[in-house]
Amino acid sequence: MRIVLFTGKGGVGKTTTASATALRLADRGVKTLLLSTDIAHSLADALDVRLTDEPTEVAPSLWAVQIDTQGRFEAAWRDVQTFLVDMLARGGVDPITADELTVLPGVDEVLALLAVRELALTGNWDALVVDCAPTAETLRLLALPEALTWYLERVFPVQRRIAKSMRPIATMLGRREVLPPDTLFDALLRLNDELASVRKLLGDPTVTTVRLVLTPESVVAAEARRTFTALALYGYSVDLVVANRVFPEGEDEWRRGWAAAQRRQLAEIRDSFAGLPVRELPYHSAEPIGAEALRVVAGELYGTLPGDDPVPAAATADLLRVEQTGSGFVLHMALPLAERADVDAVRAGDDLVVSVGPYRRVLTLPSVLRRCTVSGGEFDGRELRVRFRPDDEQWPATAEPRTRPRPKPGPGGGRRG
Ligand SMILES: Nc1ncnc2c1ncn2[C@@H]1O[C@H](COP(=O)(O)OP(=O)(O)O)[C@@H](O)[C@H]1O
Ligand SMILES: [Mg+2]
Repeated sequence: MRIVLFTGKGGVGKTTTASATALRLADRGVKTLLLSTDIAHSLADALDVRLTDEPTEVAPSLWAVQIDTQGRFEAAWRDVQTFLVDMLARGGVDPITADELTVLPGVDEVLALLAVRELALTGNWDALVVDCAPTAETLRLLALPEALTWYLERVFPVQRRIAKSMRPIATMLGRREVLPPDTLFDALLRLNDELASVRKLLGDPTVTTVRLVLTPESVVAAEARRTFTALALYGYSVDLVVANRVFPEGEDEWRRGWAAAQRRQLAEIRDSFAGLPVRELPYHSAEPIGAEALRVVAGELYGTLPGDDPVPAAATADLLRVEQTGSGFVLHMALPLAERADVDAVRAGDDLVVSVGPYRRVLTLPSVLRRCTVSGGEFDGRELRVRFRPDDEQWPATAEPRTRPRPKPGPGGGRRG
């Protein structure tokens, strides 16, 4: 099972390339589901078909679905909804209708993620091609499962304890109903599990890869570079860059000017994404709408049938790994294309907060690193390395001998180096 996500700036051609990829997979006989997490649904327009919230077969071996987050919200989260509407009303907030709750930031993304998971787990398809929302929303979407799980695991047990201990008092005061009912907690627990499972699915580079779509313009390429870094920060692997809307060479001044500018941009793009394949897609004389036009796009992207596999087995790239050294451990995190000045890492209790410019990831440290202190770190332009030294207070000389990091054999290989 493979999942391929397409992202990039608005209007660069995500929907077009995602649809073309799905069509190519289906033409090769791979059972494929094409879906969109963009609330501005355009899959139906690109494919020139009608779509609903139920997967519809639109070509042999190809299904497409338009996720109805509003409908899903109402169906799955009625308990939460009722509780929140109730609580807000009691809190003196002007009466709101349950429908308005979907405008809470992030709700659409969470529901889209849960839908991706649900559809992936049905086992009905061998490939899921996901047409994502523009970059900013997609990054928010992809950072969500880990961030929410982090939040739910830390804040939720405390709140639940408080709520439990307050219930008898509240009952005495006749105000029981202001406390969250257990159904809410159950819903949150379920949400937590589901998000963890989404994260497992999307964060596994052997299952999921991301494709960056851009146009050869400096502003678009710059955003794509930042996206590439942010995706690495959150632990997602990118396996392809698509440079769309490449102008054909022309006779007139205007076209020669654009073609030359694009060539310079393309050279820079190939340079900065070194190591990643960059595929060019020419600017068509008309919008590639409908299966036939999309098959032409697929041919340009992946070669003519039975050309390249559009979705080869995904890489097993290690974006994050912990290495044991003579004096402790080193956590390696790939952060390609990041600016040195933007990279920061701060230890906060059991977590390591890594940020690159505006993007931030809270990494829950594995237990072996929790009992260490950060002894240094550096960023070499590609990789962040944070060194950890065992904290003597937490690694008592006689206690827990089995979990104590064993020094590497060899000359000067003692733990203190
Ligand atoms: N290579 C191309 N040549 C001509 N038109 C294109 C090309 N790629 C995309 N388009 C058109 O540009 C518009 C935006 O493309 P779309 O795939 O919807 O972008 P996105 O999903 O990134 O917003 C659509 O009308 C699409 O048909
Ligand atoms: Mg689109």
